[in-house]
Amino acid sequence: MSFDSPNPPGQFPQVRMRRLRRSDWMRRLVREHQLTANDLIWPIFLQDGTSTSTPVASMPGVERLTVDRVADAVAKAAELGIPAVALFPATDPARKTPDGDEALNAENLVCRAVRAVKAAKIDIGVICDVALDPYTTHGQDGLVRDGYVVNDETLEMLGQQAVVQAAAGCDVIAPSDMMDGRVAAVRKALDAAGFQHVAILAYAAKYASAYYGPFRDAVGSKKSLGQGDKRTYQMDPANGDEALREVALDIAEGADLVMVKPGQPYLDIVHRVKSTFGVPTFAYQVSGEYAMIAAAAANGWIDRDAVMLESLLAFKRAGADGILTYFAVDVARLLRANP
Ligand code: PBG
Repeated sequence: MSFDSPNPPGQFPQVRMRRLRRSDWMRRLVREHQLTANDLIWPIFLQDGTSTSTPVASMPGVERLTVDRVADAVAKAAELGIPAVALFPATDPARKTPDGDEALNAENLVCRAVRAVKAAKIDIGVICDVALDPYTTHGQDGLVRDGYVVNDETLEMLGQQAVVQAAAGCDVIAPSDMMDGRVAAVRKALDAAGFQHVAILAYAAKYASAYYGPFRDAVGSKKSLGQGDKRTYQMDPANGDEALREVALDIAEGADLVMVKPGQPYLDIVHRVKSTFGVPTFAYQVSGEYAMIAAAAANGWIDRDAVMLESLLAFKRAGADGILTYFAVDVARLLRANP
């Protein structure tokens, strides 16, 4: 048949894409990506006190938990098949200092929570952030000297913070501070302290994003940060190629897993990172992304469950191996009810 034919092969009407969408069984048969509980990491906020769960106003459905409630929450996540949780402390402002020394206190909130989870012998991974912002009076992720977040002096502390968290039982250290050289510094400090088996999940391409607002409410760093911003170390949202350089450096420095953050507005970066490096690539559906979905759903403007699932499936399609999401428990429950 010639290509001048009025009905060239490989085109309509011989080809009808809708044949593959006609029925549920066919759609399931040709589905390219699937979201499962194994893809989820659940971020949990911690607070001081006992037997208390405090709702986070800007994240409807999310609560800060006291340490005595963490093990139960984590056990529930494990039972739902969620492979890992990430713990974030809302530090008592009285414990914050300009240099964030509380980060190195083995009795700090996050270390106590890690020990509580480990003591409960729950089969789940525990991830802890390495960065000073929960502990500094100025809310920056590093040490500030003459108004500038200094790099090399901060590295020293981050290494020590990682060791303190590993000693508490943390399985994965996640440097979220965006200092140069921090992955190598953390790896070196962990190895020197005998923590060769503790993995590093690098927030490799972390952008200076306005989507972190509700998180800073949740951990109480917004007031500390005030009018400040993190643009001298977190990435410019305008840049894509730069993310690949950041990821390449972190892999070379010893990152086991890499992360892109925020998530949905940066899925192009997730796709480029995964297709360029082929390493385990995670993405963080951050607090602002959660808040937007939760708020629209609360107004009845979107279907919460449907948008939640669609948003996370998009991460998988972009190439993410896993997603940090505040929806983790809800999703795992939903997937269990409707696999
Ligand atoms: C701390 C940190 C932040 C988030 C994770 N770790 C905030 C920030 O960098 O200001 C944001 C997570 C979220 O918004 O859900 N370095």
